[in-house]
Amino acid sequence: MSALLQGTAFVTGAGSGIGQATALCMAQHGVKRFALGDIDLKKLDETKNALESQSSDVDILLIKLDVSNEDSVKEAVEKAAAKFGRIDYAVNNAGISGPVARTESVAFSEWQHLMSVNLNGVWLCQRSEILQMLKQDPHSTG
Ligand SMILES: NC(=O)c1ccc[n+]([C@@H]2O[C@H](COP(=O)([O-])OP(=O)(O)OC[C@H]3O[C@@H](n4cnc5c(N)ncnc54)[C@H](O)[C@@H]3O)[C@@H](O)[C@H]2O)c1
Repeated sequence: MSALLQGTAFVTGAGSGIGQATALCMAQHGVKRFALGDIDLKKLDETKNALESQSSDVDILLIKLDVSNEDSVKEAVEKAAAKFGRIDYAVNNAGISGPVARTESVAFSEWQHLMSVNLNGVWLCQRSEILQMLKQDPHSTG
């Protein structure tokens, strides 16, 4: 098992698909501390179980998070920093598919929701993560 990656990972949309696969892959490459966020806590439990089955020495914080909500994102990053003291890797993966329909039949509220999760969500997460990272000393690989 390689230890290419060291430090703490913060992954959104970690309850399934690409987010879950990314967490599992990061653990295979050395990450041991995970702050995993998702709007669906039940799905996050599945990721936690999968990670723990794969690696016995991982420390995992599960966070219910709505990436489209500024306060929820801020709280999630604060929780991760309170537990692990730092965030070294940020994977802003949470997202949704849009309505598969002709433009004229899509409600503006559906479009706004899509933008809110997929665009605002990434921006809100990276802003909070960067604010946290700027407070940290550089990660030592020694
Ligand atoms: N799978 C693909 O082929 C593909 C292609 C292009 C882009 N993407 C994008 O990659 C990302 C992951 O895709 P996936 O296939 O793993 O999707 P997925 O649906 O399996 O996983 C997305 C996760 O995000 C979570 N989520 C949804 N809304 C959220 C919110 N508001 N706050 C926090 N968590 C939320 C879901 O609960 C889910 O666990 C998405 O943004 C998707 O749009 C995927």
